[in-house]
Amino acid sequence: MIVAPKIRGFICTTAHPDGCAKHVAEQIAVVRKRGPIAKGPKKVLVIGASAGYGLASRIAAAFGSDAATLGVFFEKTGEADRTGTAGWYNSAAFEKEAAAAGLYARSFNGDAFSDAMKAEVIAAIKADLGQVDCVIYSLASPRRTHPKSGEVFKSALKPIARSYTNKNLNTTTGVVGEVTIQPAEGDDVAQTVAVMGGEDWEMWIDALLAENLIAPGTQTLAYSYIGPDLTWPIYKNGTIGKAKEDLERVQRELDAKLAPLGGKAWVSVNKALVTQASSAIPVVPLYISLLYMVMKADGSHEDCIEQMDRMFRERLYNDGDPQPDEAGRIRLDDWEMAPAVQQLVIDRWHQVNTENLKELADFDGYQASFLRLFGFGLEGVDYAAETDAATAVPSLA
Ligand code: NAI
Repeated sequence: MIVAPKIRGFICTTAHPDGCAKHVAEQIAVVRKRGPIAKGPKKVLVIGASAGYGLASRIAAAFGSDAATLGVFFEKTGEADRTGTAGWYNSAAFEKEAAAAGLYARSFNGDAFSDAMKAEVIAAIKADLGQVDCVIYSLASPRRTHPKSGEVFKSALKPIARSYTNKNLNTTTGVVGEVTIQPAEGDDVAQTVAVMGGEDWEMWIDALLAENLIAPGTQTLAYSYIGPDLTWPIYKNGTIGKAKEDLERVQRELDAKLAPLGGKAWVSVNKALVTQASSAIPVVPLYISLLYMVMKADGSHEDCIEQMDRMFRERLYNDGDPQPDEAGRIRLDDWEMAPAVQQLVIDRWHQVNTENLKELADFDGYQASFLRLFGFGLEGVDYAAETDAATAVPSLA
């Protein structure tokens, strides 16, 4: 079929198989250009492996460190006349590139929160790899069915205690308006913590430890965000921030559990970037558009792949010098949070409106990045040509 973008608010309901493949190939090229990651991981499990930070982690581990990778994700397959999700096509492309490079890659499509998925992955590790030496936890989900109680939790993106009003960008029209978000009510905080907090990460590591599938020296990471104080009411101090606090609680627990094996658990604070998850957060897309403008101008802009490559190369496998902050977190948001960058972003935040948006913010870059997530706007892809929407992920075929 011929595939064009169909955007509905902050989601694109179509994805282009060849465009996604090109997006993956470009990320692989970034890693290859930087050369091998010395002493990197060799057997890596990525939970949330098909898009954004998780996909970039999988690519950096495989193509920077020659790692065998297992990737877990929740995506929709395509059919001859209906496209699958971008993460499906990304994973198809990743596996093909991995096979061409002689790298083991196996994928699992289903609910990572479930016991069944954990059992499936455990069986695969036993059968194929023996153990893993790195576990990346990069899920972003609006809901979770608890594997023991069956309760369905829904995450909310809300401030706590009082409503929050700030500027907001309509990413389809480019209109800068204002949004007011009502505070969390009822058990919104507990629900969000249940979905995006650390319980499931701990369940994964516990399950792997119980089966002796964690190699000595294993490192495990989950991703977080802090950002500037203008977004704190909706992020750091909001419902999602409470979930990220819970992630740090679990990090300390996992650290203790891995210590006897010489292993380590980390929370890595990453840069704000356009992904399917971040585009759903109010206020954040305007901040990201302003940030991209400043960071592209000063040459410090990175996308998911540059962030994850730097994470493996200069933090996690950097001869024991991951440069943690005072709270023990890895900081890949260091360039985003540089005072000179933040000062410019904040100044422009106060000035920005619909009329001067393109002068002060990289709105074109935001939209281009968003489309690229779904495989659109990539150089060298013939979007007028027929493409195979039923493209398979080889290990799932
Ligand atoms: P994303 O939306 O690009 O990717 C989410 C991944 O989770 C996909 O692979 C998806 O298939 C998988 N997934 C979702 N529900 C699942 C389920 N039930 N079972 C199996 N897989 C499932 O998200 P993004 O932005 O890469 O986020 C990953 C992590 O990074 C999150 O913890 C997020 O908070 C964090 N982060 C994101 C930042 C950003 O600006 N995008 C900044 C800093 C941290």
